[in-house]
Amino acid sequence: MLFYRFISERFVQHVNRLERETDPDFDYVQLPDDLAEYGRDSSVAELGFFIRPSELFENVRKNAASDPDLNERLEQVFRNIEGSAVGSQSEGDIKGLFDDLDVNSAKLGNTVAARNAKLVRILNEIGNLPLGDFSSHSIDMFGDAYEFLMTMYASSAGKSGGEFFTPQDVSELLARLTLVGKTKVNGVYDPACGSGNFLTETYIELRRLENVVIGELLRNQTMLDFEEVGDSPVKVSLHQFYGIEINDFAVSVARTALWIAELQANIESETIILREIDDLPLRDSASIHEGNALTMDWQSVLPAQRCSFVMGNPPFIGYSNKSAQQRADMELVFDGMKQHGLLDYVAGWYRKAADYMEGTSIEAAFVSTNSICQGQQVAPLWRPLFERGITINFAHRSFVWGNEASDQAHVHVVIVGFSYVARKKKVLFDVQEIDEGVSQSVGNINGYLVDAANVFIERRSKPLCDVPPMVRGSQPTDDGNLLMMEAEKEALLAVESRAEKWIRRFSMGEEFIKGRKRYCLWLVDCTPQELRVMPHVLERVRRVREFRENSVEAATRKKAETPWLFDEVRAPKGDRFIGVPPVSSERRKYIPVDFVDNGMIPGNKLYFIADAGLYEFGIFTSQFHNAWTRVVTGRLKSDYNYSNTIVYNNFVWPKANDAQRALVQQKAQAVLDARDQYEGATLADLYDPDNAWLYPALTRAHRELDAAVEAAYSVDFDGDEQKIAAHLFDLYAQATA
Ligand SMILES: C[S@@+](CC[C@H](N)C(=O)[O-])C[C@H]1O[C@@H](n2cnc3c(N)ncnc32)[C@H](O)[C@@H]1O
Repeated sequence: MLFYRFISERFVQHVNRLERETDPDFDYVQLPDDLAEYGRDSSVAELGFFIRPSELFENVRKNAASDPDLNERLEQVFRNIEGSAVGSQSEGDIKGLFDDLDVNSAKLGNTVAARNAKLVRILNEIGNLPLGDFSSHSIDMFGDAYEFLMTMYASSAGKSGGEFFTPQDVSELLARLTLVGKTKVNGVYDPACGSGNFLTETYIELRRLENVVIGELLRNQTMLDFEEVGDSPVKVSLHQFYGIEINDFAVSVARTALWIAELQANIESETIILREIDDLPLRDSASIHEGNALTMDWQSVLPAQRCSFVMGNPPFIGYSNKSAQQRADMELVFDGMKQHGLLDYVAGWYRKAADYMEGTSIEAAFVSTNSICQGQQVAPLWRPLFERGITINFAHRSFVWGNEASDQAHVHVVIVGFSYVARKKKVLFDVQEIDEGVSQSVGNINGYLVDAANVFIERRSKPLCDVPPMVRGSQPTDDGNLLMMEAEKEALLAVESRAEKWIRRFSMGEEFIKGRKRYCLWLVDCTPQELRVMPHVLERVRRVREFRENSVEAATRKKAETPWLFDEVRAPKGDRFIGVPPVSSERRKYIPVDFVDNGMIPGNKLYFIADAGLYEFGIFTSQFHNAWTRVVTGRLKSDYNYSNTIVYNNFVWPKANDAQRALVQQKAQAVLDARDQYEGATLADLYDPDNAWLYPALTRAHRELDAAVEAAYSVDFDGDEQKIAAHLFDLYAQATA
């Protein structure tokens, strides 16, 4: 509908400009249809289509509220506009222009009257948009309005298809990263193009580059007259842009967005070539195909030999959130590879791109959720691609975009550029502080986006080094009957003091960090006779039994036979252990871990390392270990999701000599002492990324510990996290070779 307004106003502007040369009062909007018909042929020849005055957006809108057949009228108007081009050069471009606008859609209302009422509203809303004056060529407002509507579309479309709108700056960044150093561009292809943001940004970027070239040509050949040579200097064409998109609405948005991009680019070019570029007729159009990119053949849209770049922001759908159809798509793309279940949906585009690009020099770059370069997804995605000869040319490490269009406030994304033909210069981009970007030329970029060998960190059941194991705590499966908060515990003890012997501190990860007290009934050594004389405890145990008996899981039903015990019993043997919360905000520099010596039972959302001393604590809480965690662990939303099998068991500990060990121990103790200086502060307080300045002694102690750990590794990186990560990958490669 916005496009209908746009071409109406463009048509009026064109005719008025010509007619006003002889009649300054001429206004096409007021002209009777029969008189306007005289200009039909010339309009079609010049603009590619014709619109009767009565069928202009402005006039249809004026009468819309009183028109009981508005839906039919609009349908007829669209047919007439498309029909006006039949037999002309522009027929192919105009045909189907309004196909996606279904004025009889049930989405508009169940009755004709309801649909018409909605259409009147739409005409009015779009008519009221302050789009600027076409005759002065200021269509920026039009672009803004269009973006606004696309944003509305993105937020109302739901996210089942991962349809959110890529922010303009992310699209622009990708377009620039992709085009850098290129001298020739053929086809540009976005196989999940949504509203076409990447294609439009790339188109605009290419037009800007072309403008620079045209500007240079003009400077060197001041006599160059494009009209005389009879050829437009603008060579970049919408015909070079291709897309696939599953959502029909997005398809039409993308097509229109590209036309608008062309108009905007023309305005910029006009200031350089100093002559007007005819926007109309719409000669060019991009090829946006509606379909499922994972099941269709990409060659059918654009044969690979005509393609230069594949780019896009394929849908963000986590590996566990895929629909049945999406799982089937992945099955097809990964052709029976078992581990595809571990992969986010976006991985399907990497794989399809690799198939499509094989044997060519096409380069691909996708914006994706960072999870495909972390944790368990790296090996199943990247190993087969590297084995086929794919290489990562550039990457932007994890950054956050605040996506207003989706209510998903913070999306953590990476950009990965890859191809079969390696670029000579590989570059890693990073954001250190807000808006502060850094880039680094590197020798290799592995699947974790680290400048290190192409190794893969896979699950390992025991630590690679000779260190105490990290174990997940005990799972209660008790329906809240074995666990108690402070008040509940007090209430139980008030009626059953004998229970005290069986009550232990208990903690999951969150309570651990926040220092909240929780308790549990730990009845491991409790005999039936002892249990019988505690009727309140017995009642709790009976309820656990009932709960487990009714479970759908056979394994849980089996545990109904021992209802006084936790479902899984894994408690540390000694008196002291290190507690490690598996989930912690990624904004913290260190995962907040601590020694526990009060008999606490770690729950299944808390890891423990028994038999661990100050040395283990020091290494674990150092920048070295945290840097490793940041690179290899998976994420749960924006939190680290620490995994003992991936992160801990694959971490290579230093081969420290006695002196280095002693220094780590001393500095680890200093960290504990510094914590003690801040009485009453919980781990959450002490490691609050926004308020670290409140605890300077702790910051200092950690810095010194970090230096001691660096020394234990016999390196001097001065805290450079990229170097630390790369070094740990090298050590891992050696240890597993
Ligand atoms: C993150 S959005 C891309 C947004 C786009 N760059 C833009 O700015 O509008 C991902 C797009 O992939 C589309 N999509 C989801 N599944 C698809 C599939 N199987 N085939 C093709 N497109 C798909 C969604 O409809 C959505 O438009």
